Amino acid sequence: MKITIFGTGYVGLVTGTCLADVGHDVICMDVDENKIARLEGGEIPIFEPGLEPMVKANVAAGRLKFTTDAAKAVNHGVLQFIAVGTPPDEDGSADLQYVLAVAKAIGEHMQDDKVVVDKSTVPVGTADRVKAMVESQLEQRGVSLNVDVCSNPEFLKEGAAIEDFAHGARIVVGTDSDKVKQLMRECYAPYIRLQEKLMFMDVRAAELTKYAANAMLATKISFMNEIANLAERLGADVEQVRRGIGSDPRIGYHFIYPGCGYGGSCFPKDVQALARTAREVDYEAELLGAVEAVNQRQKQTLFAKLANAFDSDLKGRTIAIWGLSFKPNTDDMRDAPSRTLMEALWEAGARVQAYDPEAMGETRRIYGERDDLMLAGDRIQAVKGADALVICTEWKEFRSLDFPWLKDQLSMPVVVDGRNLYDPESVRRAGLMYYAVGRGDSLEGVA
Ligand code: UDX
Repeated sequence: MKITIFGTGYVGLVTGTCLADVGHDVICMDVDENKIARLEGGEIPIFEPGLEPMVKANVAAGRLKFTTDAAKAVNHGVLQFIAVGTPPDEDGSADLQYVLAVAKAIGEHMQDDKVVVDKSTVPVGTADRVKAMVESQLEQRGVSLNVDVCSNPEFLKEGAAIEDFAHGARIVVGTDSDKVKQLMRECYAPYIRLQEKLMFMDVRAAELTKYAANAMLATKISFMNEIANLAERLGADVEQVRRGIGSDPRIGYHFIYPGCGYGGSCFPKDVQALARTAREVDYEAELLGAVEAVNQRQKQTLFAKLANAFDSDLKGRTIAIWGLSFKPNTDDMRDAPSRTLMEALWEAGARVQAYDPEAMGETRRIYGERDDLMLAGDRIQAVKGADALVICTEWKEFRSLDFPWLKDQLSMPVVVDGRNLYDPESVRRAGLMYYAVGRGDSLEGVA
């Protein structure tokens, strides 16, 4: 099947590559010439486990092509996937300019009937706007062609996107057209296990499903962070509480890990966008506002714990940070809690010595060269000469730690663990002060 994907960002590139990998003939289009040139040369602009060899193999097999030529892209695929970014506007609503620019290009260039598939996370009602945009171009051209627009949101997790593509919990397709249903069945047919998980529904229900799923997951996290903060003040260990509630199948163990707040390209933006959508229909989504507010506060707790440990005087201190990306197995720094922490530390006059297995290039790109930021070659170098250590991301390599060795490295024996990686007893036995998230006496020693 011939398929066109607009946008070679995270979602577009993974979708295009996975569909090519099962035999479809895929063209990925992007307006960024530099990006397309790099992709043609087999260079992958993002870090995603397993993606690079898959892109290279499918390019070599001739099933995956890249272009900046909109006319060529539009005239390739029966299905036209829109997978471009929807960054938040100043007011939190999703900015649809890139989505609508693709719709315009499709309308300008299409020579036969097309099915447009919205894969970008877009507010409810966007499919109608995309259809209207394509049709207005067709009208200007004076041609009579048919365009169907369906919604097919993605639920991929960064770091596990390829696995998720093949083994996702469901494929949601919003459409009322039998022709579109048939084409989407064909598109996903090679993924035999996914076939059974195809869920057809109304376009608006599909659009809302994406936001509801992310908002629900974000809610679970913020809820758990709220319980962690309470546990901290009540002298309870939230890790025990987590096990206690997760064992109830109605609650489940997923997404109830307390931490230093959620980040990434989806949760923060989608929770805000859904709240904004609610406001547009005169409904105040109280819960969503609280989920967002709890998360903002949670991202500040790492700094607050450090400030407490250092009597609010961090000027001239050197803080080691392990983990910068918003979660492990990605180099993505969007809305990462490490950024809130670093910015607060710099503001307070402290220096940062940071290490992350993948996100250091991205960190340098965002913050540039600065005297108060040293990017270390490994986790050991990051703690050399530091006063205290903060863990922001639970990369596997941070999980085992020689506590007595760490104690010798740090001038102040302070460990702030934003991911609850260690057994508090063992850390303290080595003479370190351990400030985790919601672990009973983790405020011990705090002024
Ligand atoms: C998320 C959704 O999971 C995915 O379905 C959607 O398509 C895009 O958004 P992603 O942003 O890649 O995926 O990351 P995810 O693994 O869901 O984690 C999001 C954030 O929540 C991370 O910052 C993570 O550290 C945090 N988190 C997750 C917690 O703090 N606690 C948890 O229990 C789970």
